[in-house]
Amino acid sequence: MSDQAVINFTRGVPAPESFPVEDLKVAAESALDKYGRVILQYGKAYGFMPLREWLAEWQGVAVEQVMTSNGSLQLIEFLSTHFLQPGDVVFTESPTYDRTLTTLKRHQARVVGIPLQPDGPDMEALENALQTHTPKFFYVIPDFQNPSGATCSREKRERLVALAEKHGFWLVEDAPYRPLRFRGQEQPSLYDLNPERTLHMLSFSKLIGPGPRVGILYGQADLLQKLAKIAEDTYITPSLLSQGIIYEFVASGKLPAHIEQLKALYAPRLQACLDALDRFMPDAEATRPDGGFFLSVTLPEGASTARVREQAKQYNLNLADGQAFFPDGGGERFLRLPYCGITPEEINEGVRRLAEAVKDVLAG
Ligand SMILES: Cc1ncc(COP(=O)(O)O)c(C=O)c1O
Repeated sequence: MSDQAVINFTRGVPAPESFPVEDLKVAAESALDKYGRVILQYGKAYGFMPLREWLAEWQGVAVEQVMTSNGSLQLIEFLSTHFLQPGDVVFTESPTYDRTLTTLKRHQARVVGIPLQPDGPDMEALENALQTHTPKFFYVIPDFQNPSGATCSREKRERLVALAEKHGFWLVEDAPYRPLRFRGQEQPSLYDLNPERTLHMLSFSKLIGPGPRVGILYGQADLLQKLAKIAEDTYITPSLLSQGIIYEFVASGKLPAHIEQLKALYAPRLQACLDALDRFMPDAEATRPDGGFFLSVTLPEGASTARVREQAKQYNLNLADGQAFFPDGGGERFLRLPYCGITPEEINEGVRRLAEAVKDVLAG
């Protein structure tokens, strides 16, 4: 074991130095001054009304179409409770966010993975799968996908909403990284293209911090009513204290400038990762995202992620298990590289160590 400092390419966490601590202190005091008697009390399961009103205006929808919860993962749990009986079919991209897979499996869903390409789900595979199953919903992460970094093209987005309409399934669009575009052209969301068939999820976890646990769901008012009942039966009300603080932060107009600061912090980290891959692993097959938290690498033939992961420990480099992101097998050579939580220097050194570990494995 080397005595070098440990580098973690494991979890997709925000950079701690990105948290707007001072502004949140001001927001917390102001929220307690203005709304103390509301946000320290039980309230509606939908969340803190002023925040819902702000969120409705942000996305240009009616307030009845906005629900909040304690983090967006909780919303996936509520959607699963609402939609799924044991054995029901759900489609996800393959790979996809591993915690969603855990939630779906806990609900005994039959998860069918649709292979993901650099420009979104493989449409031919999707159409084939639709010949044998109509899923209750298709869970997709169209922007800067976790774990691959892929972004869905406009053509595929249009096809997805057309297929959802034709076959009668819901699109669950999980978009926590969408506001973090560093370059290039934003595509319309699935919700923009078809709000009747889409449930759109956002989160403040990657925009302000995961600690307050504020997730957001946009959807049809009658469906949200049912989800709010499940939320009420689960926790009565989400954390209104958190929501009051987040509200004061966003209502004071600070979010757009803060998002710009995040991009200024993260874009060079993505570039550092791409440059290091070019330098140390020029033959690596890697995604080249325009934003978000992740890129992914397909390791060379003969180098499984499991073996490279094991070998990387010799270099004090921690890597994540690639296969956990695949609903029905595959991913033996898949590696996710989350670049936001570590510095450009650590990224460069981490990729250098990764290249060493791959070389060792290939050398047998
Ligand atoms: C795609 C995706 N969805 C949901 C979540 C969970 O977010 P939250 O903190 O809002 O529960 C994450 C967190 O990494 C994520 O990557």
